Amino acid sequence: MPKYLIRAMVLPMTGEKDFYEQGEIAIEGDRIVSVGEIGSAPKDFQPDRIFELPQDVVLPGLINTHTHAAMTMLRGYADDMPLMRWLEEKIWPFEAKMSAEDMYWGTLLALCEMIRSGTTTMVDMYMFEEETAKAVLRAGTRAVLSRGMTGLDPDNARKGLEENIKLFEDYHNAGNGRIKVLFGPHAPYTCSGEFLKEVKREADRLGTGIHIHVAETKAELDIIKEKYGKTPVEWLEEQGLFGGQVIAAHCVYLTDKDIDILKEYGVGVAHNPESNMKLNSGTAPISRLLQRGVTVGLGTDGASSNNDLDMFCEMRSASLQQKLVGSSEDLRAYEVLEMATSGGAKICGFDDLGKIAPGYKADLISVDLSQPHFYPRFSIPSLLVYCAKGSDVRTVMVDGKLLMENRKLLNLEEKTICQQVEERAKRIAAQFLDK
Ligand code: NI
Repeated sequence: MPKYLIRAMVLPMTGEKDFYEQGEIAIEGDRIVSVGEIGSAPKDFQPDRIFELPQDVVLPGLINTHTHAAMTMLRGYADDMPLMRWLEEKIWPFEAKMSAEDMYWGTLLALCEMIRSGTTTMVDMYMFEEETAKAVLRAGTRAVLSRGMTGLDPDNARKGLEENIKLFEDYHNAGNGRIKVLFGPHAPYTCSGEFLKEVKREADRLGTGIHIHVAETKAELDIIKEKYGKTPVEWLEEQGLFGGQVIAAHCVYLTDKDIDILKEYGVGVAHNPESNMKLNSGTAPISRLLQRGVTVGLGTDGASSNNDLDMFCEMRSASLQQKLVGSSEDLRAYEVLEMATSGGAKICGFDDLGKIAPGYKADLISVDLSQPHFYPRFSIPSLLVYCAKGSDVRTVMVDGKLLMENRKLLNLEEKTICQQVEERAKRIAAQFLDK
């Protein structure tokens, strides 16, 4: 197994005071052996290669806890619309024309962008998810995948569930455990109670979890209240969906009782501030959730409602949005970094990811701090959240393997991928212009 030594500034995300100015990380195979100041590696550690990055800070790879990767195909196709109209008039008709191959190339494009901006793990929900799995295996990143299922039409529901089960059988733990598979019922307003119960039974049978959109818009809140006389969270609890791993994306409209329910069942929240702002969905009560002890991760949502997949931008937006509606003391820089690393790892169910510590997976990124916008260096977390951009990431490693070095992607042919997506997306869009 290859052994590496990385020398750089290190922000291990193991505690707010933990920082190594002249740090050293020892890696063997896919795991971290030690972290500390220079000289802290075991005496007998013989590295195959030493990375000297004195101008960089190394931190855990970022975890994007909610996205639809292949939606890069729809980036900029439909902007400036409210969510329900956006879905019904533009997104769903376009998606209906997308082939498995389109999904594959769209996902590869997303992965190029994610690696370039420091995201090493994504939580994805979409169709043709086996193509997403193939793209992830090729790119070398880590992913938690689910087949997005709608359950109001029985035939669609059956097909989606069968595909999600097959995805689990074919890809769960693939790529040295880099891929995990969950079940992806789309949302309370697109699934019946009966279908959700069936999904939960299957997830329990296979020993895995669930990824679902919850309480994203006021319209959803109104639909569920009118139909069942309950909030979306109360209704999902009644269907028995909680208990076991659940990633609830958005959670914008929550009562205090809803927050208690999320806490009680250990439901993880995937917060998507830029998508929520762009679609005018609202502001999720993140400060209240954190105060109550609910674990929160950060996500970009799909590229058609963001419109980039840059988690550094997302961190900054997350903090600024909470401050705007709350107080300037809300969501401090370090708390946002936790959401994007250790918080994300926790809601994904990983106990060896999201921190730089002995025994943890070697998923690491380095950010080039030599640039003017990183001086003076009073606080590294502050610089990373309020000043950094994805394009400042220099090096990316997943599972102890280099995916980007000096801003050059090592596994992916970017030019081909960009051309493929350009041609494929324009071909689909042209079909709607003809009418
Ligand atoms: Ni979404």
